[in-house]
Amino acid sequence: MRKGSIRLIAAASVIALAITGCSSSSDEAANTDTEFEIFTWWASGGEAAGLGALVDLYKAQNPETEFINASVAGGAGVNAKAVLESRMAAGDAPDSFQAHAGLEVIASYAAQGKLEDLTALYQSEGWDKSFPADLIKQTTLDGKIYSVPVNIHRANVLWWNPATAAKAGITKAPETLDEMFADLEKFKKAGVKTPMVLAGGEGSWAMAHLLDYVLVASMGPEKFEGLFSGSTSWTGPEVAEALKVYQRLLSYGDKGKNSFGWGEAGAAITKGTGGFFIMGDWASAQWQNEGAVLGTDYTFAPGPGTVGIYQWLSDTFTLPVGAKNRNAALAWLKLSGSKEGQDAFNPLKGSIAARTDSDLSLYDDYLKSAAADWAKDRLVGSTAHGVTADNKFMASMNAAVGKYISGGAKDNAGLAKDLAAAQAAVVK
Ligand code: GAL
Repeated sequence: MRKGSIRLIAAASVIALAITGCSSSSDEAANTDTEFEIFTWWASGGEAAGLGALVDLYKAQNPETEFINASVAGGAGVNAKAVLESRMAAGDAPDSFQAHAGLEVIASYAAQGKLEDLTALYQSEGWDKSFPADLIKQTTLDGKIYSVPVNIHRANVLWWNPATAAKAGITKAPETLDEMFADLEKFKKAGVKTPMVLAGGEGSWAMAHLLDYVLVASMGPEKFEGLFSGSTSWTGPEVAEALKVYQRLLSYGDKGKNSFGWGEAGAAITKGTGGFFIMGDWASAQWQNEGAVLGTDYTFAPGPGTVGIYQWLSDTFTLPVGAKNRNAALAWLKLSGSKEGQDAFNPLKGSIAARTDSDLSLYDDYLKSAAADWAKDRLVGSTAHGVTADNKFMASMNAAVGKYISGGAKDNAGLAKDLAAAQAAVVK
């Protein structure tokens, strides 16, 4: 198995061994709790629809438990994470909250003593055999497993409207950055209002998401991973080159000053006023929720320069230390990790199941192709969604990108320096 990759294989016996005989505080009891509060940032559109499918199942299985949906709107959790932090500091943890697999769960929550060890739950549910071994590692600290992955999203997806592309004379997906720029020129010449759709609102996370993709596309997965292991410098030539690409892409947007959130910005694709949009695959669920049709109103390809590369992220659920309704939370975690729960949630959320045994006949053509790519592509973690970065780095990256854009997207060296400082501040 290549370094840094996660494969769709059942977990290795190593994990089974690691969990045998472990005692953990997540021993189960029947759910007699009268309330359950789940905390996410899935407040509307496709995101709320996915969550709703899981909530309906939970309510049917736990009719005596009142369900409290404490979602805080704002893509990528920019607002939710701040509210969560202050609630936890005040001793008011929700019963379960959403967090990304990778450094977000491990460094920002587990290492801070904020989560209960779920190893025993993995053992009783047989999850060592249901999830990819390397995915479990992304929620594990010192041999203890701290969260339950409900999905896999892909970050590096290129979206466009086939009719708008046809008008501009674009008949196939660009595969390289050069081909992408050639097509952006075609959109421009054809009078397409926004050749490159940019979502600059919501604390700039979507602009950081675009940069995250550009870094991979421009320097390749090994050099990209080196940014986080220390072997690639944020102030070196590879990042300088990537930032030129980023700057050039922004010049095809609304002068990089778009203040829309990802949902509003992405509507330019289905309405035909936008050319290309780089966004995670939750966009597809959002558009379907708005009535758009895959293949007619929008279509997809891997981000140019990242064909054969899957930049992944995974939403997981946790059991915070101090949860008031612990048994109700364990019932939620069991459902979230089950095949039934994942196959109800993911087709509406626009993600594939984290489990290896999901029923693909329930998923649309985009998600079927994502599942095929997930099984064969070179996997690389997302920075903007917590795999390679903890909450602190993500907030610093969003701020650095926001500063760059408000300065007219001119100061490439300043952006590189800010990103290097963010990396230096990451606790090793
Ligand atoms: C990601 C999250 C996705 C989706 C997206 C946009 O961080 O993992 O599930 O919600 O933000 O809000």
